[in-house]
Amino acid sequence: METNTTVAPPKPENHTHNHHHSQSQPHHLHHHNTLSSTTILIIIFPIITIAVLLTILLITVMLCRRKSAKNDNSSCTKPTINGINRNCMFIGQSAISINSSPDVKGGCLYGGNSGRNPTSAKHRGVQVYTYKELELATDQFSETNVIGNEGFGVVYKGVLCDGTVAAIKKLHREGKQGERAFRIEVDLLSRLHSPYLTDLLGYCADQHHRLLIFEFMPNGTLYHHLHPPRNQSWSLNWGTRLRIALDCARALEVLHEHSVPSIIHRDFKSSNVLLDQNFRAKVSDFGLAKTGSDKINGLISTRVLGTTGYLAPEYASTGKLTTKSDVYSYGVVLLELLTGRVPVDTNRPLGEHVLVSWALPRLTNREKVMEMVDPSLKGQYSKKDLIQVAAIAAMCVQPEADYRPLMSDVVQSLIPLVKNLSSVSLCPSST
Ligand SMILES: Nc1ncnc2c1ncn2[C@@H]1O[C@H](COP(=O)(O)OP(=O)(O)O)[C@@H](O)[C@H]1O
Ligand SMILES: [Mg+2]
Repeated sequence: METNTTVAPPKPENHTHNHHHSQSQPHHLHHHNTLSSTTILIIIFPIITIAVLLTILLITVMLCRRKSAKNDNSSCTKPTINGINRNCMFIGQSAISINSSPDVKGGCLYGGNSGRNPTSAKHRGVQVYTYKELELATDQFSETNVIGNEGFGVVYKGVLCDGTVAAIKKLHREGKQGERAFRIEVDLLSRLHSPYLTDLLGYCADQHHRLLIFEFMPNGTLYHHLHPPRNQSWSLNWGTRLRIALDCARALEVLHEHSVPSIIHRDFKSSNVLLDQNFRAKVSDFGLAKTGSDKINGLISTRVLGTTGYLAPEYASTGKLTTKSDVYSYGVVLLELLTGRVPVDTNRPLGEHVLVSWALPRLTNREKVMEMVDPSLKGQYSKKDLIQVAAIAAMCVQPEADYRPLMSDVVQSLIPLVKNLSSVSLCPSST
């Protein structure tokens, strides 16, 4: 059987052959091993060489980076050629948190959340300036450049090295409140960009100096236009007032309803409303702002800060702070726009000292509303609009916070009034 033949024991030659074969196997294997190690050497040698070269390259790059990082830090206190230090940008964050206030490190401020992508194009950087650069911009902080001196610091008009005209707020050195105001303004405004809020261009935290650099608003404050000094007389026309009212409502809407957590301005008043070249309004001065993250049981319990005449009654008496406190302050500004009166005026007859107390009972009476209007408007307004604005103001200054509207409601009520202002000029009418 073929099968048996195949399984038969091998012939001697075969055996010899097999023997020979088995003898030659180690030689063959040895030959193979020699070949393998050569091949391995050929493969490994370039790999090791490349690895060594890469390590050297990596070490060189790391050393260079270290060096340039050192230069970056020191350049925070050195003016750059164009006067703007682009290496020390504070990149905005999308979530608002007072707790993540930037830390001051070696004269530079850095964002609290460094984990975010620093090159995100969505957030425009806020520039870091040296004290020297700002001294240059303001002519050594010359008295002649002072444009404001009210609360936490002195505001100067200045020209930055790139030619930008700016408002430079130099905060007073003493007091924790000033430092807090600085951190809050940098923290909030570097992340909040809205056409209804004054733009923060940069800041300086050079040693003990704390300065904020804002876009310059050429027409100053709303307060200044509504309550001009005695020897000067000018007035904003009705259309401009309505647009300002809407701009401010939109600003507060951004803070209350479009920010997470919501932000309470806490010092909303006509002197914190700034006007651009077209008399469009932007809300400024966030030094007292609070965020919803400061809430305890849904309320923010806080020391009462703000300005008399604008404070919501519940906030003034108990320190209970909510977004509705800003709505009240907004109502007071609306009354200023309507009547041309200041919030508190002790020179007026008894019963008329406090604007809200005098105005509130009159706001829902058509005849009385007409009598309340700012005389400098000289009757140049729409009666229908006037009654509607009076109704909005009445809602905003309700003593009961819950009855006050949301800012988005105010925005929606004002939009049609502003839309109807077809032929109203944007310039203030002179009286
Ligand atoms: N961006 C600006 N453009 C023009 N004037 C400004 C600007 N910022 C502030 N001012 C002026 O400086 C004053 C004070 O500024 P503000 O930021 O309100 O600080 P504070 O009230 O804490 O002193 C304002 O009332 C205004 O007259
Ligand atoms: Mg102010």
